Formats: sequence, C-alpha cells, structure tokens
Amino acid sequence: MIALGSDHAGLPLKREIMELLDSMNMPYKDCGTYTTDSCDYAVFAVRTAQAVLSGECERGILCCGTGIGIGIAANKIEGIRCAICSDCYSARMTRKHNDANMLAMGARVVGGDLGRMIAETFLTTEFEGGRHQRRIDQISAIERGEEIG
Ligand code: RB5
Repeated sequence: MIALGSDHAGLPLKREIMELLDSMNMPYKDCGTYTTDSCDYAVFAVRTAQAVLSGECERGILCCGTGIGIGIAANKIEGIRCAICSDCYSARMTRKHNDANMLAMGARVVGGDLGRMIAETFLTTEFEGGRHQRRIDQISAIERGEEIG
C-alpha cells in the first residue's frame, strides 16, 4: 500500500500518481487533501507520514506546488526520509543509497508524465544496503540527538 498526500497545489499531480498506481495494480491510501480549496501542506505531510510510520503503507508520495514545503515538513518527523525529486536519477539513487521512504514532488515543477516516471522509478527501485545502511543509521542517531563522527 502506498500513502499519498498533497495540498491544493499538488492535487493535480497526486491524481496523476493515482492513475499510475491503478495501472501498476498498486493499492494506495489517499490521506488528503481532496479538494482544490487552499490548505496547509504540513497537515497532509504529517497524515501521510503517519500512514508510513504505522506500517500501514510501505512508502509515501507527497505533492505540493514545489514539493519543497511538504517535503521539509515530512522530514521533521522521526523515521521519515523524504526525497524531494524532480528527476528520475535522483529518485533512483535516493532509493538505492538513502532508502528514502517518502518522495515529494512539485506539481508546478514537473509535468504529469515526468511525475509519473519519477514515482514509478521511486517505487520500483530497491535499497542497496551495505555501507549505505551505516549512513542511514547515522541519520537515525542524529534524530535521537546523539553525536556522530
Ligand atoms: C502553495 O501555494 C505552495 O506554497 C505550496 O504548495 C508549496 O509549493 C510550498 O512549498
């Protein structure tokens, strides 16, 4: 199950991602927003992140105007590694090296076709583990307020 969230600006891109997931036979949970009424992206970043952290959803995809606000908000939550991407290379590498569990994209930055390609890349690329796990463990230690290095 994939968690989806957006604000009003990201809603059109989130709808494109829903179509992609339907075509991939991948179930999703839409954590809002559901209308184009103006709203605050942090609310939907939290709701979507909670669906990932609870284990209900394996990964999450967020959309706002730029992808930046909703991505920054998600990254404030312990356990979330949200990659703000506007290209497929970054989406691929953030899965392989960072084990990103959320992707954020900007509806005003990427078009529907590119957004779908980025999302598909993110969802179909696996984490490489190895030395990258050590680095993710360091990120987790930072979240716990521990010193690293
Ligand atoms: C909304 O106008 C816009 O500020 C928001 O979607 C996002 O781009 C913020 O980072």
